[in-house]
Amino acid sequence: MTEKELVIDDIITDAMATPSPAKSMGDPGITPLSPTHVLKDSEENEPTRHPYVVVVAIDFGTTSSGYAYAFTKEPECIHTMRRWEGGDPGVSNQKTPTTILLTPDKKFHSFGYAARDFYHDLDPAESKQWLYLEKFKMKLHTTANLSIDTDLHAANGKKVKALDIFAYALAFFKEQALKELSDQAGADFDNADVRWVITVPAIWKMPAKQFMREAAYKAGLVSRDNPDQLIIALEPEAASIYCRKLRLHQMVDLGTKTALNGYSPTENIGVGTAQGDRYVVVDCGGGTVDLTVHQIRLPEGHLKELYKASGGPYGSIGIDYEFEKLLCKIFGQDFIDQFKIKRPAAWVDLMIAFESRKRAATPDRSNPLNINLPFSFIDYYKKFRGHSVEHALRKSNVDFVKWSSQGMLRMSPDAMNALFKPTIDHIIQHLTELFERPEVTDIKFLFLVGGFAESPLLQQAVQKMLQGRSRIIIPHDVGLTILKGAVLFGLDPSVIKVRRSPLTYGVGVLNRFIEGKHPPEKMLVKDGTRWCTDVFDTFISADQSVALGETVKRSYTPAKPSQQVIVIHVYCSEKESVSFISDPGVRKCGTLKLDVSGTESPATRREIQTLMQFGDTEIRAMAIDVATSRSVKASIDFLSQ
Ligand SMILES: Nc1ncnc2c1ncn2[C@@H]1O[C@H](COP(=O)(O)OP(=O)(O)OP(=O)(O)O)[C@@H](O)[C@H]1O
Ligand SMILES: [Mg+2]
Repeated sequence: MTEKELVIDDIITDAMATPSPAKSMGDPGITPLSPTHVLKDSEENEPTRHPYVVVVAIDFGTTSSGYAYAFTKEPECIHTMRRWEGGDPGVSNQKTPTTILLTPDKKFHSFGYAARDFYHDLDPAESKQWLYLEKFKMKLHTTANLSIDTDLHAANGKKVKALDIFAYALAFFKEQALKELSDQAGADFDNADVRWVITVPAIWKMPAKQFMREAAYKAGLVSRDNPDQLIIALEPEAASIYCRKLRLHQMVDLGTKTALNGYSPTENIGVGTAQGDRYVVVDCGGGTVDLTVHQIRLPEGHLKELYKASGGPYGSIGIDYEFEKLLCKIFGQDFIDQFKIKRPAAWVDLMIAFESRKRAATPDRSNPLNINLPFSFIDYYKKFRGHSVEHALRKSNVDFVKWSSQGMLRMSPDAMNALFKPTIDHIIQHLTELFERPEVTDIKFLFLVGGFAESPLLQQAVQKMLQGRSRIIIPHDVGLTILKGAVLFGLDPSVIKVRRSPLTYGVGVLNRFIEGKHPPEKMLVKDGTRWCTDVFDTFISADQSVALGETVKRSYTPAKPSQQVIVIHVYCSEKESVSFISDPGVRKCGTLKLDVSGTESPATRREIQTLMQFGDTEIRAMAIDVATSRSVKASIDFLSQ
């Protein structure tokens, strides 16, 4: 018995948001014919035997990016990208900075250290014309109505399309990786032989993930006709895939602060208990801190997600912003704003200088940290204010920052710790809440990965919070954990068998009105039958577990035989249970499009069976015309509303 009896389509769903019975009933188009079915298709769970020669994973980070690869014939051998020239004093980096430079006419010029060095050497008057961008990945997380047309601002304040920037960056990596592969092979390497993997934070919403995919199409990484050549991997998941394979000598146990020697070097960390270990992976990056809770399922070591991905924008650049705020406090916001626009290259220098001092911060440090102020800062400040930097420091009531005679800011360790505090507090609060959840009990290990995981201040705070409840493990190559895991994921995406839906998804439908159950204001009468509008037909609930390959089935039928496309609005909510699409917190988030053109059939009532998968890193839809068994083009779009 099903309750869902009638009617949704484009027109109706819109009307339902603001109930208007007459309009709604004008064109009752799509009928869900069948009740909710969740099918388990065990066939889908077989590891994919793909036709690719190599898997290349790109970790597109907020502050640093890179790629790694493995040949499918030799999956145990993961190669990390060739080292680039350049580098920063006092900062060791395995990835390259996510910085991009465009010429004044908005053409791609360079990426990474090359972009930074070139920009730095430009004449100040000229540099104002060039477009330099960094830390721009966060825009995809923070923009509420992300679209294909979303803009970014370069250092000089000029606008550029975010899609172009992401596409330029991906095209750069494509070229680098193919060049490296060609050099290795001694012949041109064909892009068709590459399975591409791009990592994104697990907490990213669907629009951001789709944006990355669109950028990959634009960059020519893969074509829209062959979407499976690209997989979107989730950063903490990738880390988890790698961590579960770690040998004990490849990590540091923070509890003992020693490399884990004395154990058998062939023993894997996770595989060891009959039930399968439960662990948390915390990816502490530049922009986001992203967590996933996994359980290992024996005997194959497959992974099951125990709690939906969580985290937030608590990455290490939060500390950079605190530093900027401190500068504003000392020198004035108006000056800093002007300086950034007028002397953009000097601002970049200053932040590079800060970066190395930031990395030197430790809980037990007692001597101050010196930050070199660029000459251009000192000079411009004098012109701007008419007095010296030294004077500003003396006048300001920030007493833990002093001026050193060598032209440096002297920050006391307390001052540096204060810059870390808001960011670390966020992370600790999040972890505390996560560990209070019933799903998150008996956690054997907590893996700290990502560049920020190297911070002794963060390590100490996490250790204090956990109080020995789980062992804190830091892999030796924290910075590359995600990249290596992403390659492993590309080799076998079926390793993660069960995920948790981050949100509740569904569509609006009409149900037969039931007195006492449905609120009277939702009632609508048509041809003597009473209907309840706005009913939320749940496809999947937030935190519901869903196996890879599991599908949610719905049937829809076009309103008129001549109809070419069926468009259905998809709604989502953070809440686990939703009754109506008008409930607080429910928002329209995408559209399901069924292209039924060219599939006309003699059947009077065409049933388009739609299968949706929520167990993957992206939501996928497939559809067939039941009468003819012909496949119908189905897509879910989260970027244009
Ligand atoms: N010792 C340290 N103390 C504080 N921060 C550090 C330290 N070492 C590295 N970081 C920070 O880690 C960040 C880089 O880490 P990572 O490469 O994992 O980030 P990302 O991948 O660029 O960002 P995201 O994953 O959020 O997009 C930088 O912001 C850097 O300042
Ligand atoms: Mg990262």
